Amino acid sequence: MASTLIRNGRVITATDDYVADVLMQDGVIHAIGKSMVVGESVQVIDASGLYVLPGGVDTHVHMENIVGPSITCDTFASGTKAAAFGGTTTVVDFALQTDTDSPLAAIARTQRSADAQVAVDYSVHVIIRKVDKQVLAEVRHAMRHEGVTSFKMFMAYPGVMMADDAAIFQMLRQVGADGGMVAVHAENGTVIDLLIKEALEAGHTSPRYHAMTRPAILEGEATHRGIRLAELAEAQIYFVHVSSNQALKHIVAARAEGIPVFAETCPHYLLFDDSVYNSDEFEIAKYVMTPPLRTPEDQKHLWRALRYDDLQVIATDHCPFCMKEGHKGFFQQKIRGQHDFSQIPNGAPGIETRLVSLFDIGVMQGKLSLNRFVQLTSTTPAKLFGLFPKKGTIAVGSDADVVLFDPAASQTIHAKHLHSNCDYTLLEGRTLRGRVKKVFLRGQLIVDGEQWLGREGMGRFVPRGTVQAF
Ligand code: URP
Ligand code: ZN
Ligand code: ZN
Repeated sequence: MASTLIRNGRVITATDDYVADVLMQDGVIHAIGKSMVVGESVQVIDASGLYVLPGGVDTHVHMENIVGPSITCDTFASGTKAAAFGGTTTVVDFALQTDTDSPLAAIARTQRSADAQVAVDYSVHVIIRKVDKQVLAEVRHAMRHEGVTSFKMFMAYPGVMMADDAAIFQMLRQVGADGGMVAVHAENGTVIDLLIKEALEAGHTSPRYHAMTRPAILEGEATHRGIRLAELAEAQIYFVHVSSNQALKHIVAARAEGIPVFAETCPHYLLFDDSVYNSDEFEIAKYVMTPPLRTPEDQKHLWRALRYDDLQVIATDHCPFCMKEGHKGFFQQKIRGQHDFSQIPNGAPGIETRLVSLFDIGVMQGKLSLNRFVQLTSTTPAKLFGLFPKKGTIAVGSDADVVLFDPAASQTIHAKHLHSNCDYTLLEGRTLRGRVKKVFLRGQLIVDGEQWLGREGMGRFVPRGTVQAF
């Protein structure tokens, strides 16, 4: 396989920051040094003035996922291409345990769909809805023999995705003992469903009621409950899409007590606040995601937690649904909820803008150091989900997943220039500082400016190990 030398770039990892040459060979980082001399067969790329970052690791994405009544509009092909253009080279999606298939069947089904399409490397968390002896046996098998070491459980969406507390506890106990991770969507689903029913009965049908029926206190209650279940199970636990201080305060307290609680937030909770819901226009269905956007005060707490490591990951929860009926052949997406907010499929796109938006509002605004930016978007997600050091860093022997990032460039974001099938971006018209210039997947150049050099199916399923956080 061809070798490439990235010359004179500024290598940024979670801990290091230095100018060096990086030699990629046979899909891995072969050597790092100063003024390296290489043969003529080695392609040399001058990276002076550019950051050399480990490829992003996004551990919360939904492609071809059934969410409520709809299916997300990104295929594994379009979603992973968008990921690549945004500097993300590994994603962890979901395999759903349905009423008719088991966890192992769900993994196999998802792989059958993903393998031929993915343009970056991937894995899956299995969504577990029901637990019995057979399910627990398959979960153990998945961890030991399939390289699937994380599982997702919902405390929300009763009758659809929600698992009861006993099921969550049993999973925490077994998966925790085996060194894996249970990731939890923490919201009190049954009380939320009651609030939704009452709002609809009162004639409140517009999208703003999505946010009003999912108050932060119900995220806090479920987070607290999840922590206590993990404490009893003596297990590590991971909270997805933390949006509010109501949730965060329990996470902070639990970590101070020494309970191994980990958590992510998402760019949209840092970029936008609940003022967007002050409208009765259907347009705000764009912001109908779960949990909803919170207050500016909540945002301050999220930033503080990101600084002091009470939040360890920024993942996208990329969960795209189109606004325009028929866009790229997708029908009945957001429009489903035109006359009833509870029918709007929950979720928003974000996979392609994660790194650049966080660079702009985090690094450029002095809220995150460069090392912390890499740690939150690549290294720690890789560690928590058993991908490190294959993924998540620039080190000899690691996969040559490398992003050349230009901190001096800027770009104005438009959905029509992005690569997702989604017809909108929450960042439409916004100018962001920083730009992904080139992306390498296992040493192969897949993004070169605006040019796509990747191909469907070149991504690989990555068997994962246990949690590396202790
Ligand atoms: O709005 C969201 N987050 N949709 C995806 C499903 C989930 O809750 O993660
Ligand atoms: Zn969720
Ligand atoms: Zn999600």
